[in-house]
Amino acid sequence: MRLKDCHNTARLRELAKKRLPGPIFHYIDGAADDEVTYRRNTEAYNDCDLVPNVLAGVEEIDLSTTVMGQKLDLPLFLSPTALQRLFHHDGERAVGRAAEKFGTLFGISSLGTVSIEKIGSTIKSPKMFQLYFHKDKGLTKSMIDRCIEANFECMALTVDTIVGGNRERDLCTGFTSPPRLTLKSLLSFATHPAWAINHFTHEKFELSQIKDYAKDGTNIATSVSDYFTNMLDQSMDWKAAEEICQYWGRPFALKGVMSVEDAKRAVDIGASAIMVSNHGGRQLDGSRAPFDQLAEIVDAVGDQIDVICDGGIRRGTHVLKALSVGAKACSGGRFYLYALAAAGQAGVEKALSNLRAEIERDMKLMGCKSIADLNRNNLRFR
Ligand code: LAC
Repeated sequence: MRLKDCHNTARLRELAKKRLPGPIFHYIDGAADDEVTYRRNTEAYNDCDLVPNVLAGVEEIDLSTTVMGQKLDLPLFLSPTALQRLFHHDGERAVGRAAEKFGTLFGISSLGTVSIEKIGSTIKSPKMFQLYFHKDKGLTKSMIDRCIEANFECMALTVDTIVGGNRERDLCTGFTSPPRLTLKSLLSFATHPAWAINHFTHEKFELSQIKDYAKDGTNIATSVSDYFTNMLDQSMDWKAAEEICQYWGRPFALKGVMSVEDAKRAVDIGASAIMVSNHGGRQLDGSRAPFDQLAEIVDAVGDQIDVICDGGIRRGTHVLKALSVGAKACSGGRFYLYALAAAGQAGVEKALSNLRAEIERDMKLMGCKSIADLNRNNLRFR
């Protein structure tokens, strides 16, 4: 299969599966425990139906939305994700350039593999930094300061990784960052020579935001789950989140809010957005899907804070459904990570162009000229 034949997320996933050594593919593709939540994140969108209006004169339509003070050309953005240079040697550079072309927001992870400075100086579209609250307070503060210096527009503090999720696929494959060189992993590299040549002939893999403070993940092989459990501060609480929000002083989101109670507290501490998310089902299996939980959160705080529906997006209609419930925008990780692994920047552009085309086509079929035209009258739950 070639990139041009990848008309949807499922096909990009297939291409990624062919190109990546097994442990790396399963790190992206896998989730916690029985992966029930992971599957539900997408299935949830299929439990309701769109009710179109016709004869609306939809020759010119507008897909733009404003979220966290940033005007985006698309109501879909690229959630921050870790370790991107393991998936393709260009990593965050490729993702950033693709986001820039499509005029949308993209996230850089605390566990990113290209530095805050490099991204800040090369990518002009709005950038979100994703912060993990580390036990090492110097490290946490250094990342915030670097983002201020590099003019990042917004920050998301991840709040659903207080310990590592039970990712059984990673336990089975032995996936670590950096990949451990064992007989088994060398065999999987040898059977994916294009990936291996690219990986080992480009600049050395590193966790760019972390490496001056800790060797874990850069020189010391660790699983992501162990990284969370050992490196992040389990005493993180609302006071800590409020202090970060104030210190940062720019648009600020909590990523991983699922309850109405927490959504209200996010408003109280001055956050500008919440990302309703269960971390792609990678943390608490059995947690509710963001789309299932969206309506009650929008009803409680939707007029006070931007509500972002994060996770499970595979189709343009999924975005339309979340926007109809009242989300300001949707975001996701795997839909563009498969594409990054499949073909670098061209892959991510293909993922975005597929989804943009779907959103545009489906908006027209819905009789909607702008995002504001989507509302709950357009939707019926079964
Ligand atoms: C994950 C982190 C790093 O693997 O976001 O889910």
